[in-house]
Amino acid sequence: MKKFAPVIRGYDHFLHGGDYNPDQWLGHPEIIDADFERMREAGCNTFSVGIFAWTSYEKREGEFDFAWLDRIMDRMAAEDHRVFLATPSGARPAWMARKYPEVLRVDARGIRDRYRLRHNHCWSSPVYRDKVADINRRLAERYAGHPALGGWHVSNEYNGSCYCDLCKARFREFLRERYGSLDALNAAWWSSFWSHTYTDWDQIEPDDFCVDALAVDWYRFNTWQIVDFMHHEVAAVREFSDAPVTTNMMGFRPDIDYWQVAGVCDFIADDRYPGWLEVRDFAGTAAAAAMCHDFHRSMKRRPWVLMESSPSNLNWQPYYRLKRPGLHRAEALLAVGHGADAVMYFQFRKGRGGSEKFHGAVVDHEGSSRTRVFRDVAEVGDILRRIAPVRGTMTEPEVAVVFDTDAWAALMASGGPSQGEKKYAETLNLHYRALWELNLPCDVIDSTADFSRYRVIVAPMLFMLKPGVAEAIRKFIADGGVWVGSYLSFYVGDSNLYFTGGLPGGGLRDVFGFWNEELDGLTPEDRQSLIPAADNTLGLSGDFPLEAYAELLHLEGARMEAGYGSDFYAGTPALTSHIYGSGTAYYQSARCGLEFLRAFYRALVARHGLETAAPAAPGFHATVREGDGERYLFVYNFNPEAGTFDLGGRSGTSLIDGGRRAGEITLSGFGSDVLRLD
Ligand code: GLA
Ligand code: ZN
Repeated sequence: MKKFAPVIRGYDHFLHGGDYNPDQWLGHPEIIDADFERMREAGCNTFSVGIFAWTSYEKREGEFDFAWLDRIMDRMAAEDHRVFLATPSGARPAWMARKYPEVLRVDARGIRDRYRLRHNHCWSSPVYRDKVADINRRLAERYAGHPALGGWHVSNEYNGSCYCDLCKARFREFLRERYGSLDALNAAWWSSFWSHTYTDWDQIEPDDFCVDALAVDWYRFNTWQIVDFMHHEVAAVREFSDAPVTTNMMGFRPDIDYWQVAGVCDFIADDRYPGWLEVRDFAGTAAAAAMCHDFHRSMKRRPWVLMESSPSNLNWQPYYRLKRPGLHRAEALLAVGHGADAVMYFQFRKGRGGSEKFHGAVVDHEGSSRTRVFRDVAEVGDILRRIAPVRGTMTEPEVAVVFDTDAWAALMASGGPSQGEKKYAETLNLHYRALWELNLPCDVIDSTADFSRYRVIVAPMLFMLKPGVAEAIRKFIADGGVWVGSYLSFYVGDSNLYFTGGLPGGGLRDVFGFWNEELDGLTPEDRQSLIPAADNTLGLSGDFPLEAYAELLHLEGARMEAGYGSDFYAGTPALTSHIYGSGTAYYQSARCGLEFLRAFYRALVARHGLETAAPAAPGFHATVREGDGERYLFVYNFNPEAGTFDLGGRSGTSLIDGGRRAGEITLSGFGSDVLRLD
């Protein structure tokens, strides 16, 4: 595999830096001078500038001042730094909101917000769109040819909904496009429920979530609004600049389908803030972050940008816990090991006021490079230079985990089953974690992705089958693929209508080899367990506790690998496997805990001969990147204590200290290393 080109054209470095807000320091030139000094000392080279700077560009309507940004850009260029220049639409000047209240959002009850906060503009307002296009054009025209320009940071963390009349009209338009006629919509939405049959598009109220198909379409419309707004912003930029564009994402959400937002981005950027608050289980935090990283790497199947992270504490978490020594380096390298070509922070220098003065930053209020956090960041800067050959390499997993936004939205929108137990993201995290602990590289894909490049697909709780997905699953398994499914899969079609004729729906009953007749919602007091069958093909043994959900299956060709331990359905299948064509369909019909998932995936790796990056060891993790004929192994110890880790017959040279590594290696508490494998 050939290495990928750098994210910033012609700038062949790992990017290191972060949000830089000199607009908050315009009266303090000595601070700006110090910042440039600190940037050098910290080994930082790339900065997101101007994200919330609109008032500094246009203090009064039509009066523009870019002189301060000119100076910053010139200084950046002189240092050979690069800038992801932001479009400032994430927050707007007060004068604009006062003069044009329509730029503000309206809530579900029809009340327009006052001027406050950020990330709260109407998506449809023609005035806001004009104002945004205007400022974007001015920025693009002025800086398109600037040597410091690396790319465009479009807006900031797009999210949320507006219920103004314009947005509602666009929702109805979106529905008209999707369904063509009200008859088709009424049928797809099952809207005779509670007398909701619509006879005019105007009757559709976006928050009427008793129509659970409407709820799913409203979430889809949210994504459509974001994509449409971003296209609008990018079009203005593109009149002058062809530098790559992105917007910073926020990981897994049921209300934004990032696979679609990715389509507007030239490269993927994510904001990731692991809290490290599970102080007896740092590996759990790391695994959850890594799953997000894999999600962002999988979007374009190329290296991505960690656009924001904190070098230290987080002011918005319930506890303001410091990152313990080593953890910052491990967190940064975890992103790189999982495909990031950039480690960037929010933010470079702490602001003295505003609601984020306690948020971690590279440069503290104290201001020097002597702080512990600063030295941690500088160490990462140094390491990123040492591991330069890794930039542009990729990971090509045999395994993918399916994360499906619509399936999540549909499950959340449905009334029941067991409202508080759904936990889609948490469940995916748990499955992923078991794979992560085994050091099995994974992609994270949408259910409409091309399955053919994978050998194993793990798709827990795939509640909704979007068009074509059932056929793709059938073909994947028939052609030799291994599918791992679970309870709450294949219940509804594209508009959240329950399948008739028995589950698994979508015609998948013969592929999985059972009929799923009923779902038992377990209370916390219920005691249910999974007991492997004596002759199970996975070599499982023990007695594993179950919680929340247990489906009652009738075998129609599948093999019972494990059964329920108690209650009236004791002895009926809790885990099945079914050979279909040349592949295998596994199904876990109840929610299993981490202990079971560890045992199950360990068995799966052995049974199907999957290649891991290194042998598993508690609290340790390993992952690989490869390209241009080289393989790089990233190893981490997420235990606070030092420990040894077996490279499993691999050997190599540390890119960090040049030392040889083979056999058992020792890593300090929260230690991490990057090896070029022999
Ligand atoms: C988000 C925002 C930043 C900042 C950080 C704080 O990611 O994009 O502007 O508020 O959170 O963690
Ligand atoms: Zn609106």
